[in-house]
Amino acid sequence: MIKQAIIPLAGLGTRLLPLTSVFAKELLPINGKPGIEYILEECIDAGIKEVIFIISTKKKMIKNYFYNDKFYKKIIKKKKDPRIINEYKKILKFKKMIKFVYQDKPKGTGDAVLKTKKFIRDKYFLMLLPDDLIVKKNCSKDMIKVHNKYKCSVMASMSVNKKSVSRWGIYNLSKKFSKNNFLIKNVVEKPSIDNAPSNQAVIGRYILPKTIFKKILNQNPGKGGEIHITDAIQSLIDENENFIAHKFSGKYLDCGTMDGYINSGKVINKL
Ligand code: G1P
Repeated sequence: MIKQAIIPLAGLGTRLLPLTSVFAKELLPINGKPGIEYILEECIDAGIKEVIFIISTKKKMIKNYFYNDKFYKKIIKKKKDPRIINEYKKILKFKKMIKFVYQDKPKGTGDAVLKTKKFIRDKYFLMLLPDDLIVKKNCSKDMIKVHNKYKCSVMASMSVNKKSVSRWGIYNLSKKFSKNNFLIKNVVEKPSIDNAPSNQAVIGRYILPKTIFKKILNQNPGKGGEIHITDAIQSLIDENENFIAHKFSGKYLDCGTMDGYINSGKVINKL
């Protein structure tokens, strides 16, 4: 069973400047609710019991959002507003399941994953990238079903415009397991159009094996000098570990760019 999830949150969010010059992008409201709450709700609905947030000292406000008890208690005592009481209850529910670890240098997703090493108990865990919202269908829940059936790693996949391949991790798929599930032959981080093996992109939901930590530990920096999780995944594939690309059926919303962020609010408002 997959019971633990990790969420890298230490990114600088430069694609959302100037908002991110003073604010953590994951707390920015999308149709009135911080993006991170959508991600937490997806986790809870998928049966996740513990979530590890990888934050940085600069983004301490994310922890403060969940640890503002004194403030809530004072207001509730004075106002007894049912809406605020409910919001506080929700925050408390989230707080109970979150652990915090720190990544103070933005050295890449692989490095962020490594920070959670001592907390991961089971053979597999879930990772969600908070820039990627998937609505209408719980992608994590569906991926956990796929994992339970095939007992291997699973990653979310989506067709993208050929011109945009250098923005994503890109798959080379082989055998079809079932309707929306394919065995991954290779995966390459942000290839050029000429070198891209396909237009099937990695979207930010991963079910990863605990063995990935060893790979990251021995890994040299890749594209842009960062330690990419994609490269660690490729080394596991090279050792015949099965990874499935799951073509998810929900709607993908990119919250990591300004246009995408604005659009996400509009789409969610109409759901
Ligand atoms: C990360 C991954 C990339 C993946 C993307 C999905 O990139 O490194 O493989 O396709 O998330 O959003 P980033 O968005 O951090 O540049």
